[in-house]
Amino acid sequence: MDKSEWEGPSGNSWAAEWRRTDRSFAVLTERLLSRLRGQRFTQAIDIGCGAGELSLAIARGRPDARVVGVDVSPALVNAARGRASNLPNVAFDLADAAAWQPPAGIAPQMLVSRHGVMFFADPTAAFRHLADIADSGAQLLFSCFRDPLDNPFFTEVGRLLPQVPPPPPADAPGPFGFARRERIAQILEGAGWEAVAIDAFDFPMVAGAGDDAVDEAMAYFTSIGPAARVAKELEADARDPFFERLRRLCEDNLRDGVVSLAAAAWIVSARKAG
Ligand SMILES: C[S@@+](CC[C@H](N)C(=O)[O-])C[C@H]1O[C@@H](n2cnc3c(N)ncnc32)[C@H](O)[C@@H]1O
Repeated sequence: MDKSEWEGPSGNSWAAEWRRTDRSFAVLTERLLSRLRGQRFTQAIDIGCGAGELSLAIARGRPDARVVGVDVSPALVNAARGRASNLPNVAFDLADAAAWQPPAGIAPQMLVSRHGVMFFADPTAAFRHLADIADSGAQLLFSCFRDPLDNPFFTEVGRLLPQVPPPPPADAPGPFGFARRERIAQILEGAGWEAVAIDAFDFPMVAGAGDDAVDEAMAYFTSIGPAARVAKELEADARDPFFERLRRLCEDNLRDGVVSLAAAAWIVSARKAG
């Protein structure tokens, strides 16, 4: 899965579903924001910003900072712009972050991303470019998924499909492209970043909440969740039993009005090499 899918169908469905996406990542978002507290910066970029949740949260909390979200999906950039109307210190650019250029005279001091950095065809070149445009001593902070086997949110749903999908190819662009910590360190250190720190972070990924949490979770899993694309293509005789199994999984994971499954991320930080 590379940027071309995000420019089209995946970006479109995420743009239609950004509220559910933001809810699913809420605990992770808080963690990223907590890691930014106390950090000094006035220029930040959000790589693969999607519908802009992280950019918007940083801009709200740091009125002194200027935040630019960069994404390749026209639908997601539109969604992000639509959410930013009252915030003067955030902007969204439709661009490939691997080639994005800041306005003249501006150099980002903080580069952040919530799960937006695993899709580069050539990640070393992309991170080298990001180091080149960053200010000296700039900081990098991003999250990405760990191994699929540590992510029941993906594997448990995939297992319910009539044909269990093969594991994603290791190290290829896609949601699990940065699953191996050795690979992350190698890419960043080969691209002009130092002091690389990679911390495991487990969090509940929320699929549904509220009065109809199970229905909400069903809607999530069949529109943007890990099995959504395959589910949409199933014939009725395969789809209906899949939906039944999925509903049971959602009911089994309903606690206190919330349907969530475990997810496992890396939180990665680094500094532009001096
Ligand atoms: C898993 S989504 C995460 C979106 C957002 N950060 C969030 O947390 O909701 C990955 C995002 O990366 C974007 N993306 C993929 N390749 C990109 C690239 N080369 N440059 C900029 N954005 C990219 C996609 O369009 C998508 O919005």
